Amino acid sequence: MIDVMGIKSYKLLQGDCMKIMKDIPDRSIDLILCDPPYNLAKYSTGNMHFDWRSEINNDVAQWDLEELSPADFLEDFKRILSPKGNIFVFTSYNMIGKWHEVFDPVFATFQFMVWHKTNPIPNIRKSSFLNSCELIVCMWNKGHTWNFTKQSEMHNFFECPICMGSERLKNPKHPTQKPLPILKHIIKLASNEKDLVFDPFMGVASTGVAARQLNRRFLGIEIDHTYYKACVDRLADYKEYGVEST
Ligand SMILES: C[S@@+](CC[C@H](N)C(=O)[O-])C[C@H]1O[C@@H](n2cnc3c(N)ncnc32)[C@H](O)[C@@H]1O
Repeated sequence: MIDVMGIKSYKLLQGDCMKIMKDIPDRSIDLILCDPPYNLAKYSTGNMHFDWRSEINNDVAQWDLEELSPADFLEDFKRILSPKGNIFVFTSYNMIGKWHEVFDPVFATFQFMVWHKTNPIPNIRKSSFLNSCELIVCMWNKGHTWNFTKQSEMHNFFECPICMGSERLKNPKHPTQKPLPILKHIIKLASNEKDLVFDPFMGVASTGVAARQLNRRFLGIEIDHTYYKACVDRLADYKEYGVEST
């Protein structure tokens, strides 16, 4: 079993989260905030190539080819979530119905948020909408942590640009690195200081950085070695930030 009580700052693990999650103790996670593969590969028309700019990545990545179904997560997510816990999952239009079908009957509440990207990738061919919104499904039981602020700040809609500038990692470049403002918005709303935030698909540890910046403890898993190494490097600056470190 993973000693989650011993995590004073953060713990990062490399491997398949579907296996490693089995070693997380029952009711030990306060917030599951993750961004699993979207299984969008089968809808892709391929990357777009241009003479005058870098190619636009339509294929997302190799890791998106592997089919993962929300049903695969249900048992462990339910088991490891603390009674005051919340689950937030970034997902795509092709998966939202599946998340609802599987998770709605099991949790007291199932809702969704929309992240509006203010700087989406342009649609050069002008043939359809821009891909400017991303869906986040969320679920919880009665008694969950909920830091309601003002009515005007509690819309299930959040606007911020996709990750860019100095925040965007250059080496390795992760195709779906999430921006910190949306992650911090969710973490503030759905957890308290010193709570344990868990991201089983951590990519380059954006959830971990957001959690540490807000004084939450963090547990993350990433299967890819290069991304995992980037997580280790990226979080090194946050070891002693906020809560006491191990
Ligand atoms: C959508 S990305 C997450 C990006 C992340 N939110 C960020 O901001 O960097 C999904 C990540 O899950 C990883 N992944 C895919 N299958 C996995 C598995 N079974 N266990 C752990 N990680 C996995 C991929 O390598 C990829 O980096």
